[in-house]
Amino acid sequence: MHSGKSVGIVSTGKGLPVCRLTNLELEEIVDTSDEWIISRTGIKERRIISNSETNSELSFIASKIALDRANLKPEDLDLIIVATVTPDMLFPSTACLIQAKLEAYNAAAFDLAAGCTGFLYGLSVGEQYIKTGAAKNVLLVGVDTLSTIVDWQDRNTCVLFGDGAGAVVLQEVEENRGLLSCKLFSDGNKGDLLCVPAGGSRFPATRQTVEKKMHYIKMNGPEVFKFAVTVMINSTLTVLEMCGKKPADLDYLVPHQANIRIINAASRKLGLKPEQVLANIDRYGNMSSASIPVVLDEAVEEGKIKRGDLIALVSFGAGLTWGAAVLNW
Ligand code: UT7
Repeated sequence: MHSGKSVGIVSTGKGLPVCRLTNLELEEIVDTSDEWIISRTGIKERRIISNSETNSELSFIASKIALDRANLKPEDLDLIIVATVTPDMLFPSTACLIQAKLEAYNAAAFDLAAGCTGFLYGLSVGEQYIKTGAAKNVLLVGVDTLSTIVDWQDRNTCVLFGDGAGAVVLQEVEENRGLLSCKLFSDGNKGDLLCVPAGGSRFPATRQTVEKKMHYIKMNGPEVFKFAVTVMINSTLTVLEMCGKKPADLDYLVPHQANIRIINAASRKLGLKPEQVLANIDRYGNMSSASIPVVLDEAVEEGKIKRGDLIALVSFGAGLTWGAAVLNW
């Protein structure tokens, strides 16, 4: 049984690549247009890693900011969870690389892979560690560098994604604050809709896997689109019901940033006004696990999200996985 502890996000931070890739620049690479990308996805530009920027380096930058804002020293951390599908390498985990960079020597560290829902999965895992008393200070990072696994000749996918990292510190908070409800879902039967076939132990890298482009993202966009709208609505309603709230009680919805049409369709159906729905997809594209923590960080920095606001986080991604959470900020 869990204790009655309430667990909340006490600070946020982000790490973004310097290099911007605009739609006009993409027009030079693949057969696409600025008009198509904006009207079908809402994306104007995205950030792409270069030079020394790596998954773990962006994570380190985001983590340092989140730790400073929580007034924590690296040695205060008990646990580091990194949600990612694009680790620096297969092992050691990115969480261990970040632990070393931070010199957070008292922390256990591991990665988890739940596609673009990774941040919500990490939030739920971190919550359990704090509730059970196994950890006091948890660092959760959502990070992805999908630019390294997209086929830059495939216009169906390469225009959609961007790189970035968002970090939060989780701690026990006052009663009735922080996470009020959280629910995770998955359906492995739909795994083929969004996957990278090779690079694991089933298809290790060979000349053939490289020639067949099996190390790149394969996606059935329209099917994922339909699925996403339905689960975004249903899982938001589920977590609201779990804590006795209604969509009308929400101050903000913080959705995964995959496509502005998905976000708009779901939020319309939930009866939310556009100003209640936080989006930065125009500037960053789909940053996978980093989408939600980076939107959160920007909204907190801008003073949009304030103490006492009721917010819902909702996401979907490879697996397929999906989930949602309600927080009293
Ligand atoms: O984090 C989770 C990850 N993934 C997602 O959430 C993706 C969800 N899906 C989507 O966002 C949308 O399905 C896409 C943005 C991927 C595609 O939009 P769509 O409105 O579903 O387009 P479509 O795939 O049905 O393609 C419509 C047309 C096709 O041409 P034809 O066959 O009608 O002649 C595509 O070839 O648009 C074409 N097209 C493009 N044209 C210009 C596809 N990509 C592009 C492009 N530029 N980049």
